[in-house]
Amino acid sequence: MLLQLKNVSKWVQSGGQNVFLLKDINFWVNEGDFISIMGPSGSGKSTLLNIIGMLDHFNEGTYTFLEESVHSLKEKHRANLYKQYIGFVFQAYHLIDELTVKENLEMPLLYKKQGSSERKALVADMLDRFNIVGKKDLFPSQLSGGQQQLVGVARALIASPKLILADEPTGNLNSKQGDEIMGIFKELNKEGVTIIQVTHSEKNAAYGSRVLNLLDGCIEC
Ligand SMILES: Nc1ncnc2c1ncn2[C@@H]1O[C@H](COP(=O)(O)OP(=O)(O)OP(=O)(O)O)[C@@H](O)[C@H]1O
Ligand SMILES: [Mg+2]
Repeated sequence: MLLQLKNVSKWVQSGGQNVFLLKDINFWVNEGDFISIMGPSGSGKSTLLNIIGMLDHFNEGTYTFLEESVHSLKEKHRANLYKQYIGFVFQAYHLIDELTVKENLEMPLLYKKQGSSERKALVADMLDRFNIVGKKDLFPSQLSGGQQQLVGVARALIASPKLILADEPTGNLNSKQGDEIMGIFKELNKEGVTIIQVTHSEKNAAYGSRVLNLLDGCIEC
């Protein structure tokens, strides 16, 4: 098993009351799974993905990732797990504004302490694969939404993560680009990479092998 959430709940205080964003989530993922999280807007999909990606905290329950108890790890240890194993495609891209496309792509490789010639080769490979060679020296603000999304996907894949978490990775792409990204995910999954994607599209969900439906912060309630 790659990861397991047990009885995970997250809530926020509002007007003296607890408002649940996630309620008693029980969920496990095996290595090599390809899972799609679906559900209406506001149902907690991004919140759940951020927790799986160790980017957000929760109030109750346990989270085990590769036999580590994520809920009780120190921040630094948690960040190291993230850098070592996870590639995250953010719903809102989260590219670093002050860095060029090329430099954004390089970040995960710097985290993994890859040497400079290897970094150059991998960046060149990604630019080529995602058809954005001509954009390499531009800053995120100089790209279209779809191009930023492509850079976000390329950045998530560049360091060969064991687990890819993708929050509506094709939401801003045209259908041909979207199909290409899903094709890449499918290939990576065949090679053993575990994928969890959030999607509103039945077509994209069909690339995966399991669908998790969220409604009002619950998996089945
Ligand atoms: N930090 C926060 N404080 C208060 N409420 C929050 C916080 N983060 C998320 N929420 C609320 O939790 C609910 C779930 O949000 P989330 O972003 O996970 O939804 P989603 O399923 O990803 O929706 P979408 O499909 O629109 O992206 C929303 O009602 C949102 O307003
Ligand atoms: Mg969302």
